[in-house]
Amino acid sequence: MTPEEAQSRIAARRAQVAHHDERYYREAKPEITDFEYDVLKHELAELEAKFPQFASVDSPTQRVGDDRAQGFVEVAHRQKMLSLDNTYNEAEVRAFHTRLAKLLGVDDLRYTVEPKIDGLAVSLTYEDGKLVRAVTRGKGDRGDDVTANVRTIRTLPHTLLGAAPRVVEIRGEIYLSAAEFERINAERAAAGEELYANPRNLAAGTIKQLDAAEVARRKLAIVLYGLGYCEPEVVRSQTELREQLQAWKLPVVERIWHAHGIDEAWAAIGELDALRRTFAYGTDGAVVKLDDMELQRTAGETAKAPRWAIAYKYQPDTARTRVRAITIQVGKTGILSPVAELEPVLLAGSTISRATLHNEDEIRRKDIRVGDLVEIEKAGEVIPAVLRSFPDERAAGVPEFDLRAAVGGKCPVCGGMIARVEVAAEEAQGVAWKCQNYDCRAQRAGRLGFFCSRRALAIDGLGEVVAARLVELEWVKDPPDLYDVSLETLATLNLGTVEEPRIFGEKNATKLVAAREAAKALPLEKWLYALSVPDVGESTARELGRRHRNLAELAESPLLRAVVQKADLLERRELEAPASRRNPPKSEEDKARRKELCAQLDAEIAALDAGPLAGVPADIGPVVAASTLSFFADGPGRRLLAKLRELGIDPQGTVVTAGRLTGKTVVLTGTLPTLKREEAEQLILAAGGKVSGSVSKKTSYVLAGADAGSKLEKAAALGVPVIDEAGLRGLLSGA
Ligand code: IVH
Repeated sequence: MTPEEAQSRIAARRAQVAHHDERYYREAKPEITDFEYDVLKHELAELEAKFPQFASVDSPTQRVGDDRAQGFVEVAHRQKMLSLDNTYNEAEVRAFHTRLAKLLGVDDLRYTVEPKIDGLAVSLTYEDGKLVRAVTRGKGDRGDDVTANVRTIRTLPHTLLGAAPRVVEIRGEIYLSAAEFERINAERAAAGEELYANPRNLAAGTIKQLDAAEVARRKLAIVLYGLGYCEPEVVRSQTELREQLQAWKLPVVERIWHAHGIDEAWAAIGELDALRRTFAYGTDGAVVKLDDMELQRTAGETAKAPRWAIAYKYQPDTARTRVRAITIQVGKTGILSPVAELEPVLLAGSTISRATLHNEDEIRRKDIRVGDLVEIEKAGEVIPAVLRSFPDERAAGVPEFDLRAAVGGKCPVCGGMIARVEVAAEEAQGVAWKCQNYDCRAQRAGRLGFFCSRRALAIDGLGEVVAARLVELEWVKDPPDLYDVSLETLATLNLGTVEEPRIFGEKNATKLVAAREAAKALPLEKWLYALSVPDVGESTARELGRRHRNLAELAESPLLRAVVQKADLLERRELEAPASRRNPPKSEEDKARRKELCAQLDAEIAALDAGPLAGVPADIGPVVAASTLSFFADGPGRRLLAKLRELGIDPQGTVVTAGRLTGKTVVLTGTLPTLKREEAEQLILAAGGKVSGSVSKKTSYVLAGADAGSKLEKAAALGVPVIDEAGLRGLLSGA
C-alpha cells in the first residue's frame, strides 16, 4: 500500500468510525454489529501504526467515545473515566501480561477476571455516604449529569451502609434485563413506535430521557465494579473493592475470579464464558485487571485506557441456517438493499428469520446465493448479519445473485426505473441500484420516517411502521402533508389488519400532534436536513442554515450559485491554461490569448472568493450546491416549498449579521458552571464573535471557568480582560 493509499484509507476509516460512534454513543442506534465496529477500528489502528506520519490525536483510536446529549448539565469527573483496550485473541491477552510484567519488573502478578457488562457506563459520587451525583462517561473527563434518572433505579441505595469515605466515585454499568427490554419493545410496537435494537441501546436511550417519571417506568438496573476518585482511600485491591461495595450494599457482579498469573486468568475467561448467559445483564467479554491498586498506579494509563486492564471480547454468537430467498428493500433515497430471508433459527435468545446483506457487492464478496447454507451472527444488535456462505455445500448450477434480474429491472415497490449509481454515504461506499421515482411509496415512507426521526425534527411517536401506513393510505405523500392529518383522523389509524386491528389511538395521536407543533419552531438547518434534500447531510445543512435566512432564500441562494460558478470557472481555467497538456496552445498567438483569458478568470475567481464565498467551508462544494439548487428549482423541491408556505411554516436560519460580539475574539478556558464548551462557542459565534484557541494581544476576552489553566496567566500578562459565564451573558444581553 502506498502512503497515499494509506492516507485516504485512514481518512475513510476515521469517517466511518466517527459515523458509527455517533450512532452508538449519542443516538443509541447502531447500524453495525459491535464486532464489525471493532474490526473497523482495529484496521484503523493498524494503519496508523504502520503509517505513523498520519497518526493524529484527533483519531477515534486515541479518544474515548462521546455519549453526551442535549439538555443535560455537564459535570467534570474528579477522576477521568477511561475506556478499555480490547482484543479477540488469546495471544494478545498473554502479550498484555508480558508487557505489564516487564513494565513493573515483577513476573508474579495477580489478576481479577470480571464480566464485561454490555451496558452504559456511569460514575456515582457519594459524599459522606450519600448519593449526590450520577454522571455518564461523556467524553471521559466530563459527562452528562443524569442523577435524577439514576435515582429511579430501585436496587441502588442512596445511602451507603456503614462507614463511608468523605468522597468516593464508584463506577459501574446501567443495564436493562432481557425481560424488561422485551416488555418495553412490545409496548412500543403496539404504539407503532420505533423499536430499540437491544437492551444496551434501550438502557442508554432511557438514561438520556429528560423526563425522570418516564425513566422510572422502565426498570433500569445497575451493577458496580470500579473505583474513581476516593478520599480517603479505603481499599487496596480489586478484590477488596468488591468486598467493600458489597458491605455498602451496592449491587455487584455475581462473580469475579482471582487469578494468579495469566494462565489462571485465561482459564477464568473460559469459565466465565460458560456462565455468562445466566446473568441478568448482557456480557460481551471478560475484563482482566491487575488486582493490586498500588501496582495499577505504577502501571499508569494511556490517553484512552489503563495499562493495567484489558478486555477480552468473546466471539459473537453465530448460527447456521439456509437462505430461503433474497428480497429487496427500498430506502428513503431509493437505494435497493438486499435482505436474506432465512430458515428461522434460534440465536442468542431470539428467533432469527432475516439478515441484512448490505449491498450487491457484499453478496458477491461473500458469495451468497439463494438456497445457501450460511453462518449468521448476532451480538445483541437489531438486524443480524450474514458472515459467510459454504460454497462447497452448494448444489451445482446455482447462479450468482443478480440484483437487477431479481427485481426484473424495475423497482420492486413502485415498478419504476432503476439505475446504477455511485453511493458515497459516510457509512458505505460503492455502487448500488437506485429507484429513480421520487414518488415511490417506499421512498416516501422512508423520507417521512426520517423527517420525524430524532436526528431530524424529533417528532416522536412516528416510527417506520406508522410512516409506512400513512403513506400506504395516501394520507401523507410528502412529509409536510403530515400537518394536514387531523388528530381525530390520526387516532383512528389502523396499524394492523382488518381482522386484527391495531389502532394508533387518541393518546398516541395527541402526543404526535404536540410533537409536530413543536417542530415548527426548529431552525432552518434542522428542516433542511429533515426534508432529505439530495446530498445535504447534517453538517452541510448546519452550514447552509447559518448562511440563509429561510428556505425561500436558500432556494435561490446567491451563495450556492457562486459555488457552482466558481467550479465552472476553475474547470475552464484548467482547460485554457497555457501549460495545459490536455489542450496545448496551437500557436504563440493562441498562447498569449489564453494567458490573458486565464488572468481574467483568476480575477473572477478571486472576486468570488473575496465576495459571496468568503468564509464558506469546503462542506458546501459544487455537488451539494448544484443538487440543492436543482432540487428546489424542480418539481419535488417546489412542491415542498409551496406546501410549507401554505402551512405557514417558515423555518428561520441562524444568520449572523452584526451581533453584540462582532469583531471580538474570545478564548475559552476551564469549566463553566452551566454551559458546555460547545454551547458557549455557539453563543459567541451566534453573536458574531470569533472563538480562538490561544491568547494573544488581539484577544478581546478570556472566558474562564473552574480549573482554568495557563491561559489565565497569559491574559493577565497581556492585560486581556477575563470574564466568567455571567460576564458572557452580560455581554450578550448588552447589560
Ligand atoms: S473497568 C479504567 N470493568 O467497558 C477503565 N469496565 O469498553 C476500567 N465495562 O469504559 C473499566 N464491564 O464502561 C471495567 N467489569 C468491568 C466492565 C467495564 C463493562 C465497560 C466500561 C468501560 C468499557 C470499555
